[in-house]
Amino acid sequence: MVPGEWFGARHVEWHEEVDSTNTRAAALASDVELPLPALIVADAQTAGRGRGANRWWSSAGALTFSVLLDATESALPAARWPLVSLTTAVAVGDTLASLLPQSDVQLKWPNDVYIAGKKVCGILVEVPPLRPARLIVGVGLNVNNRLVDAPEEIHARATSLADEAGETFDREAVLGNLMQRLLALLPLVADGSLDLVRLWQPRCLLQGKHVWIDASDSTIAGRCLGIDASGALLVRTETGIERMFAGVVKRWE
Ligand code: BTN
Repeated sequence: MVPGEWFGARHVEWHEEVDSTNTRAAALASDVELPLPALIVADAQTAGRGRGANRWWSSAGALTFSVLLDATESALPAARWPLVSLTTAVAVGDTLASLLPQSDVQLKWPNDVYIAGKKVCGILVEVPPLRPARLIVGVGLNVNNRLVDAPEEIHARATSLADEAGETFDREAVLGNLMQRLLALLPLVADGSLDLVRLWQPRCLLQGKHVWIDASDSTIAGRCLGIDASGALLVRTETGIERMFAGVVKRWE
């Protein structure tokens, strides 16, 4: 474990192995004395979680971490919580673009980052059930792990920084770069001054593409027009423009 302040985090834990850094963050969330933001990093997770019922695969060399945030009304109003996942994707996208300036870094609504058409990062924002109000921002970023080691279905659709660059990266430096960007953007989310559309649109993977989205009880299909300031995905369907606040984009072309 690394004690003390680190890249803006006021409590830092770096574990060799945990079940899930999001689960560890949830356990810390009820400690009102814990200085925030807190950063929980693990070299390995035995039960890494993805969106829905998905598991998160990672292997040695990946970055898997969670940031526990004060999400009380004065620190981060609940109305703005839906923007945190997209804002984290922006911070990851900017970090990766700074490390791989020749690569095509893109953001897939609402919480994935892609390089050259393959997923490199997934984000899972969770609200722990107990008070005080906290938000957990979980990030899985493929850095030095090679996707050739991944199960077949992941291998075909995912990549890592090392796979793209043909060289390895200093994981602490990558994490520090990302933390600084994320912690600089979050106060703008909190006070309502973040221009999310301006930051998102240039890297929007789905912009202009035909998309198929699994919503709660139907599939929405149409042309993607990007996002709006509330973080909704705009889709032009046969019946008009839909604003999607949730859903999984299953296919795009
Ligand atoms: C997704 O793409 O479905 C989101 C994946 C999020 C994975 C990260 S790894 C660190 C943190 N701990 C977890 O158990 N999940 C998130």
